[in-house]
Amino acid sequence: MLEKIKETAAFLAGKVAEMPKTAIILGTGLGTLVDFMEDKQYIPYKDIPNFPVSTVEGHSGNLIFGKLGGKLVMAMQGRFHYYEGYDMKQVTFPVRVMRALGVETLFVSNAAGGMNKEFKVGDVMVICDQINLFPENPLRGKNYNELGDRFPAMTEPYDHALIALADKIAAEKQIRLMHGVYVGTTGPTFETPAEYEYFRIIGGDAVGMSTVPEVIVARHGGMRVFGISVITDLGGKDIHDVPSHEEVQLAAVKAQPTVVTLMREMVARS
Ligand code: HPA
Repeated sequence: MLEKIKETAAFLAGKVAEMPKTAIILGTGLGTLVDFMEDKQYIPYKDIPNFPVSTVEGHSGNLIFGKLGGKLVMAMQGRFHYYEGYDMKQVTFPVRVMRALGVETLFVSNAAGGMNKEFKVGDVMVICDQINLFPENPLRGKNYNELGDRFPAMTEPYDHALIALADKIAAEKQIRLMHGVYVGTTGPTFETPAEYEYFRIIGGDAVGMSTVPEVIVARHGGMRVFGISVITDLGGKDIHDVPSHEEVQLAAVKAQPTVVTLMREMVARS
Protein backbone atom coordinates (compact mmCIF):
# COMPACT_ATOMS: atom_id res chain seq x y z
CA MET A 1 0.00 0.00 0.00
CA LEU A 2 2.80 2.45 0.88
CA GLU A 3 4.37 1.93 -2.55
CA LYS A 4 1.08 2.59 -4.29
CA ILE A 5 0.49 5.79 -2.32
CA LYS A 6 4.00 7.00 -3.17
CA GLU A 7 3.62 6.12 -6.84
CA THR A 8 0.32 7.98 -7.17
CA ALA A 9 1.58 10.99 -5.21
CA ALA A 10 4.71 11.17 -7.38
CA PHE A 11 2.57 11.02 -10.53
CA LEU A 12 0.39 13.91 -9.34
CA ALA A 13 3.35 15.93 -8.04
CA GLY A 14 4.84 15.68 -11.53
CA LYS A 15 1.69 17.13 -13.10
CA VAL A 16 0.92 20.01 -10.80
CA ALA A 17 3.09 23.11 -10.37
CA GLU A 18 2.12 23.96 -6.79
CA MET A 19 0.51 21.59 -4.29
CA PRO A 20 -2.52 22.77 -2.31
CA LYS A 21 -2.81 22.26 1.44
CA THR A 22 -6.59 22.01 1.13
CA ALA A 23 -8.66 19.26 -0.44
CA ILE A 24 -12.39 18.95 -1.06
CA ILE A 25 -14.46 15.83 -1.66
CA LEU A 26 -17.60 16.78 -3.55
CA GLY A 27 -20.65 14.64 -2.85
CA THR A 28 -23.76 13.79 -4.84
CA GLY A 29 -25.12 16.72 -6.84
CA LEU A 30 -22.55 19.11 -5.40
CA GLY A 31 -19.99 18.66 -8.15
CA THR A 32 -20.61 22.11 -9.62
CA LEU A 33 -18.62 23.76 -6.85
CA VAL A 34 -15.85 23.31 -9.42
CA ASP A 35 -17.58 25.94 -11.63
CA PHE A 36 -16.44 28.43 -9.02
CA MET A 37 -12.83 27.29 -9.18
CA GLU A 38 -10.25 29.16 -11.22
CA ASP A 39 -7.14 28.08 -13.13
CA LYS A 40 -8.43 24.54 -13.26
CA GLN A 41 -6.43 21.49 -14.20
CA TYR A 42 -8.49 18.32 -14.65
CA ILE A 43 -6.95 14.91 -14.16
CA PRO A 44 -9.47 12.12 -14.87
CA TYR A 45 -9.36 9.29 -12.34
CA LYS A 46 -8.82 6.83 -15.18
CA ASP A 47 -5.47 8.48 -15.93
CA ILE A 48 -4.22 8.32 -12.34
CA PRO A 49 -2.20 5.22 -11.46
CA ASN A 50 -3.79 3.07 -8.72
CA PHE A 51 -7.00 5.17 -8.59
CA PRO A 52 -10.26 3.24 -8.78
CA VAL A 53 -12.76 4.56 -11.34
CA SER A 54 -16.11 5.94 -10.17
CA THR A 55 -19.17 4.12 -11.54
CA VAL A 56 -22.22 6.03 -10.30
CA GLU A 57 -24.34 8.39 -12.36
CA GLY A 58 -23.80 11.98 -11.21
CA HIS A 59 -20.18 11.36 -10.22
CA SER A 60 -17.83 12.58 -12.93
CA GLY A 61 -14.57 11.16 -11.72
CA ASN A 62 -11.93 13.88 -11.91
CA LEU A 63 -9.28 15.21 -9.64
CA ILE A 64 -9.25 18.96 -10.16
CA PHE A 65 -6.46 21.28 -9.10
CA GLY A 66 -7.13 25.01 -9.04
CA LYS A 67 -8.11 27.94 -6.84
CA LEU A 68 -11.23 28.47 -4.79
CA GLY A 69 -11.77 31.73 -2.90
CA GLY A 70 -8.19 32.62 -3.84
CA LYS A 71 -6.73 29.49 -2.26
CA LEU A 72 -5.09 26.51 -3.94
CA VAL A 73 -7.28 23.44 -3.66
CA MET A 74 -7.51 19.89 -4.90
CA ALA A 75 -11.08 18.74 -5.48
CA MET A 76 -12.37 15.22 -5.95
CA GLN A 77 -15.31 15.35 -8.34
CA GLY A 78 -16.83 11.99 -7.51
CA ARG A 79 -15.85 9.66 -4.71
CA PHE A 80 -15.62 5.90 -4.28
CA HIS A 81 -18.41 4.26 -2.34
CA TYR A 82 -18.29 1.01 -0.43
CA TYR A 83 -21.62 -0.03 -1.99
CA GLU A 84 -20.04 0.06 -5.43
CA GLY A 85 -17.95 -2.90 -4.38
CA TYR A 86 -14.67 -1.15 -3.58
CA ASP A 87 -12.96 -2.27 -0.42
CA MET A 88 -12.22 0.21 2.36
CA LYS A 89 -8.59 0.65 1.25
CA GLN A 90 -9.78 1.68 -2.23
CA VAL A 91 -12.51 3.95 -0.86
CA THR A 92 -9.95 5.84 1.24
CA PHE A 93 -6.94 5.64 -1.09
CA PRO A 94 -7.36 9.21 -2.43
CA VAL A 95 -7.23 10.56 1.13
CA ARG A 96 -3.92 8.76 1.70
CA VAL A 97 -2.60 10.31 -1.50
CA MET A 98 -3.79 13.78 -0.45
CA ARG A 99 -1.91 13.43 2.81
CA ALA A 100 1.22 12.21 1.04
CA LEU A 101 1.02 15.36 -1.12
CA GLY A 102 0.94 17.60 1.97
CA VAL A 103 -2.78 18.33 2.30
CA GLU A 104 -3.58 19.49 5.84
CA THR A 105 -7.30 20.27 5.72
CA LEU A 106 -10.04 18.15 4.19
CA PHE A 107 -13.50 19.45 3.33
CA VAL A 108 -16.16 16.82 2.68
CA SER A 109 -19.73 17.10 1.50
CA ASN A 110 -22.49 14.59 0.96
CA ALA A 111 -26.20 14.14 0.46
CA ALA A 112 -27.95 12.60 3.44
CA GLY A 113 -31.35 11.55 4.72
CA GLY A 114 -32.59 13.52 7.73
CA MET A 115 -33.87 11.87 10.91
CA ASN A 116 -33.80 14.97 13.11
CA LYS A 117 -37.39 16.19 13.39
CA GLU A 118 -36.29 19.85 13.08
CA PHE A 119 -34.79 19.23 9.65
CA LYS A 120 -36.36 20.15 6.30
CA VAL A 121 -35.43 18.94 2.82
CA GLY A 122 -32.78 21.30 1.47
CA ASP A 123 -31.28 22.07 4.88
CA VAL A 124 -27.52 22.21 5.19
CA MET A 125 -26.05 20.45 8.22
CA VAL A 126 -22.57 20.90 9.62
CA ILE A 127 -21.32 17.47 10.64
CA CYS A 128 -20.22 17.70 14.27
CA ASP A 129 -19.62 14.00 14.86
CA GLN A 130 -20.16 10.66 13.16
CA ILE A 131 -21.18 7.08 13.84
CA ASN A 132 -19.47 4.35 11.86
CA LEU A 133 -22.02 1.69 10.95
CA PHE A 134 -20.05 0.29 8.05
CA PRO A 135 -19.24 -3.37 8.68
CA GLU A 136 -15.56 -2.53 8.55
CA ASN A 137 -13.12 0.10 9.73
CA PRO A 138 -10.76 1.35 6.99
CA LEU A 139 -7.83 1.05 9.42
CA ARG A 140 -8.37 -2.68 9.92
CA GLY A 141 -5.24 -4.65 9.07
CA LYS A 142 -1.56 -3.81 9.30
CA ASN A 143 -0.87 -0.32 10.62
CA TYR A 144 1.85 1.72 8.94
CA ASN A 145 3.29 4.08 11.52
CA GLU A 146 4.32 6.45 8.71
CA LEU A 147 0.61 6.96 8.05
CA GLY A 148 -0.65 7.28 11.62
CA ASP A 149 -1.09 5.61 15.01
CA ARG A 150 -2.43 2.11 15.52
CA PHE A 151 -5.18 3.38 17.86
CA PRO A 152 -6.04 6.91 16.80
CA ALA A 153 -8.31 9.01 19.01
CA MET A 154 -11.60 10.04 17.40
CA THR A 155 -12.61 12.58 20.04
CA GLU A 156 -12.70 15.42 17.53
CA PRO A 157 -13.38 13.90 14.12
CA TYR A 158 -14.63 17.27 12.84
CA ASP A 159 -12.50 20.26 13.77
CA HIS A 160 -14.19 22.48 16.37
CA ALA A 161 -12.53 25.68 15.15
CA LEU A 162 -13.77 25.02 11.60
CA ILE A 163 -17.31 24.39 12.91
CA ALA A 164 -17.15 27.74 14.75
CA LEU A 165 -15.98 29.44 11.55
CA ALA A 166 -18.92 27.90 9.67
CA ASP A 167 -21.32 29.30 12.29
CA LYS A 168 -19.77 32.75 11.89
CA ILE A 169 -20.07 32.63 8.10
CA ALA A 170 -23.66 31.34 8.34
CA ALA A 171 -24.58 34.25 10.63
CA GLU A 172 -22.99 36.77 8.26
CA LYS A 173 -24.63 35.31 5.16
CA GLN A 174 -27.94 34.48 6.83
CA ILE A 175 -27.67 30.79 6.07
CA ARG A 176 -29.88 28.42 8.07
CA LEU A 177 -27.19 26.05 9.28
CA MET A 178 -28.12 22.93 11.20
CA HIS A 179 -25.72 20.89 13.34
CA GLY A 180 -25.73 17.14 13.70
CA VAL A 181 -24.30 13.68 13.83
CA TYR A 182 -23.79 11.81 10.56
CA VAL A 183 -24.42 8.06 10.50
CA GLY A 184 -22.50 6.23 7.79
CA THR A 185 -23.96 2.99 6.43
CA THR A 186 -23.20 0.84 3.40
CA GLY A 187 -26.38 1.34 1.39
CA PRO A 188 -27.26 0.98 -1.45
CA THR A 189 -30.74 0.55 0.00
CA PHE A 190 -32.25 3.65 1.54
CA GLU A 191 -33.39 2.99 5.10
CA THR A 192 -36.59 1.34 6.23
CA PRO A 193 -38.77 3.55 8.50
CA ALA A 194 -37.57 1.48 11.46
CA GLU A 195 -33.93 1.96 10.47
CA TYR A 196 -34.26 5.76 10.25
CA GLU A 197 -35.91 5.64 13.66
CA TYR A 198 -33.15 3.44 15.06
CA PHE A 199 -30.43 5.78 13.74
CA ARG A 200 -32.22 8.73 15.34
CA ILE A 201 -32.51 6.94 18.68
CA ILE A 202 -28.80 6.08 18.76
CA GLY A 203 -27.93 9.75 18.26
CA GLY A 204 -27.92 10.30 14.51
CA ASP A 205 -29.35 13.38 12.78
CA ALA A 206 -28.58 12.39 9.19
CA VAL A 207 -27.66 9.18 7.39
CA GLY A 208 -25.68 8.54 4.24
CA MET A 209 -23.53 6.05 2.40
CA SER A 210 -20.15 7.77 2.42
CA THR A 211 -17.81 10.14 4.29
CA VAL A 212 -17.18 8.11 7.46
CA PRO A 213 -14.33 5.99 5.99
CA GLU A 214 -12.61 9.02 4.43
CA VAL A 215 -12.86 10.99 7.67
CA ILE A 216 -11.40 8.11 9.71
CA VAL A 217 -8.43 7.92 7.36
CA ALA A 218 -7.99 11.70 7.27
CA ARG A 219 -7.93 11.83 11.08
CA HIS A 220 -5.55 8.86 11.19
CA GLY A 221 -3.22 10.93 9.00
CA GLY A 222 -3.62 14.00 11.22
CA MET A 223 -5.67 16.15 8.86
CA ARG A 224 -8.24 18.72 10.03
CA VAL A 225 -11.70 17.87 8.74
CA PHE A 226 -14.82 19.91 8.02
CA GLY A 227 -17.97 18.29 6.67
CA ILE A 228 -21.44 19.24 5.51
CA SER A 229 -24.48 17.19 4.62
CA VAL A 230 -27.28 18.40 2.42
CA ILE A 231 -30.54 16.96 3.69
CA THR A 232 -32.14 15.56 0.55
CA ASP A 233 -34.96 13.51 2.06
CA LEU A 234 -36.49 12.78 5.45
CA GLY A 235 -37.05 9.44 7.11
CA GLY A 236 -38.68 8.05 10.22
CA LYS A 237 -41.57 6.15 11.65
CA ASP A 238 -44.36 8.42 10.43
CA ILE A 239 -42.70 9.61 7.23
CA HIS A 240 -43.86 7.98 4.04
CA ASP A 241 -41.56 9.68 1.50
CA VAL A 242 -40.02 7.27 -0.97
CA PRO A 243 -36.51 8.56 -1.61
CA SER A 244 -34.89 7.99 -5.00
CA HIS A 245 -31.46 8.79 -6.43
CA GLU A 246 -33.11 11.42 -8.68
CA GLU A 247 -34.86 13.12 -5.76
CA VAL A 248 -31.62 13.11 -3.78
CA GLN A 249 -29.72 14.70 -6.67
CA LEU A 250 -32.43 17.30 -7.28
CA ALA A 251 -32.54 18.38 -3.64
CA ALA A 252 -28.73 18.49 -3.49
CA VAL A 253 -28.59 20.67 -6.62
CA LYS A 254 -31.21 23.04 -5.15
CA ALA A 255 -29.14 23.53 -2.01
CA GLN A 256 -26.03 24.08 -4.09
CA PRO A 257 -25.85 27.92 -3.95
CA THR A 258 -25.84 27.77 -0.14
CA VAL A 259 -23.26 25.01 -0.04
CA VAL A 260 -21.05 26.78 -2.58
CA THR A 261 -21.15 30.06 -0.61
CA LEU A 262 -20.36 28.30 2.64
CA MET A 263 -17.59 26.10 1.24
CA ARG A 264 -15.93 28.93 -0.69
CA GLU A 265 -15.84 31.15 2.40
CA MET A 266 -14.65 28.27 4.58
CA VAL A 267 -11.80 27.47 2.21
CA ALA A 268 -10.80 31.11 1.87
CA ARG A 269 -10.83 31.80 5.61
CA SER A 270 -9.48 28.57 7.08
N1 HPA B 1 -30.23 7.34 3.33
C1 HPA B 1 -28.97 7.01 3.00
N2 HPA B 1 -28.24 7.72 2.17
C2 HPA B 1 -28.77 8.84 1.66
C3 HPA B 1 -30.06 9.23 1.96
C4 HPA B 1 -30.84 8.43 2.84
O1 HPA B 1 -32.01 8.72 3.16
N3 HPA B 1 -30.31 10.38 1.29
C5 HPA B 1 -29.17 10.67 0.60
N4 HPA B 1 -28.25 9.73 0.82
